[in-house]
Amino acid sequence: MSTELRIRNESAATAEGDAVVVGVLPAEADGDGLRLTPGTEEVDAAFDGRLTKELELAGATGKAEEIVKLPTRGAITAPLVVAVGLGKPGSEGASEPEQVRRASGAAARALSGTGRAVSTLGRLDLAAAAEGTLLGAYTFNAYKSNGANGANGKTPVGQVDLLTGDDTAEETLRRATAVANAVRTARDLINTPPNDLYPETFAARARELGEAAGLQVEVLDDAALAEGGYGGVLGVGQGSSRKPRLVRLTWSGGDSPRAKVALVGKGITFDTGGISIKPAANMDHMTSDMSGAAAVIATTVLAAQLGLPVAVTATVPMAENMPSDTAYRPGDVLKMYGGKTVEVLNTDAEGRLILADAIVRAGEDAPDYLIETSTLTGAQVVALGTRTAGIMGSDEFRDRVAAHAQTTGEGGWPMPLPDHLRPDLDSRVADLANVTSHRFGGMLAAGIFLREFVPADTPWVHIDVAGPAFNAGGPWGYTGKGGTGVPVRTMFAVLSDIAENG
Ligand code: BES
Ligand code: MN
Ligand code: ZN
Repeated sequence: MSTELRIRNESAATAEGDAVVVGVLPAEADGDGLRLTPGTEEVDAAFDGRLTKELELAGATGKAEEIVKLPTRGAITAPLVVAVGLGKPGSEGASEPEQVRRASGAAARALSGTGRAVSTLGRLDLAAAAEGTLLGAYTFNAYKSNGANGANGKTPVGQVDLLTGDDTAEETLRRATAVANAVRTARDLINTPPNDLYPETFAARARELGEAAGLQVEVLDDAALAEGGYGGVLGVGQGSSRKPRLVRLTWSGGDSPRAKVALVGKGITFDTGGISIKPAANMDHMTSDMSGAAAVIATTVLAAQLGLPVAVTATVPMAENMPSDTAYRPGDVLKMYGGKTVEVLNTDAEGRLILADAIVRAGEDAPDYLIETSTLTGAQVVALGTRTAGIMGSDEFRDRVAAHAQTTGEGGWPMPLPDHLRPDLDSRVADLANVTSHRFGGMLAAGIFLREFVPADTPWVHIDVAGPAFNAGGPWGYTGKGGTGVPVRTMFAVLSDIAENG
């Protein structure tokens, strides 16, 4: 069951519902205490102007994502006020819309189990409130035996009425809902366990999603990959009984597309490390090693649903990285799609190998821009933490993408690709080795490896989301545990920017 959003232009004091959400801001240094966000006036009036006082008594401070519940005892129609903190402006680097998005997400989580709520946050930023609510309410109960209603599953809030006086509200809600649903689709794919989501079934789901959105779909199976010479995808996938795939989804961009964009996403449905096997601790997180693939599939579908005037082709390599008697070995040399040879020195650096094939294939379409995203390196998490993606590529486009990563609130920071690291990827026997012999700048070395396969002069970006794609910690803002759907909203913002500005 998923949450229904509606638009209402009515007083929060008389609106029907089980709870009314109000936003609160921390006291200013020279001010007199907690403040309410605009759009909450009628509720405050019904409390005789004492709402902030009562919330303060109940412990509210206005800090980001803080939830305080206050029974209304008949002061307004709804029996409960749910106050959510927005935090100080710019706290945690959050933009204003992002503060509304996170507050709406925190409120949606706090409303779990509630039938119907009314939110005044729609009056601050309708799109952000809608996205935050839908993402915060997301639950993945497909594998709970009691479904969403049992003791195990969490029931999302049934309906949220977003208050707004905006005349373009319907269109804003339609777009925000489509964006949030794309993120939710990516999360569903990531959260589906690897015994059910492996290359063949992942490709089938990509096909279904693509066809439902009217995309052109092409799936290469292992025979077609062999025929085409995709040595990277085949090498990585050969240790698994679940054979690899390469999926291509194309949105035409409508009648007069402004530009052609290639999206590429890493689709390792499970990463054991292969013969260079990973330690057992937290290996289960490697079920999320197809997050880049999930994100580009969802973003391409979204571009079509919203009729974005940009031609988009997603090229998605899918493989399972397993150790076995048929697995590729350290020391193997792979002949990649397009002819370059790569010496495999570590079978756990598999993402770059399947991506190299996909990037070369994507480059054959002569795209104006190429965007690749992947859970590529543990070094990304060491360098930037779990919430900030590493963004590398050609200088100008990299900075443009990083700016969108900031405004969407998904998080990301520009990183260099220093040329002096390139010789560290030289191989004794092949054109290139898949790893350096040291761990310094591991995130950057992976980016430098990928750059070898990008067509010259194509503006491109590599978004390493090893940390941000999967939330192994507790829920925060609109991000629950598990797959996050990052960087769907960043990529969609970039596509929208290209649609407008070329
Ligand atoms: N999928 C991993 C990267 C990863 C690590 C994603 C942690 C999410 C969380 C990737 O395939 C990998 O194993 N990378 C190696 C590269 C190394 C062998 C150069 C790594 O980061 O250790
Ligand atoms: Mn790996
Ligand atoms: Zn991996």
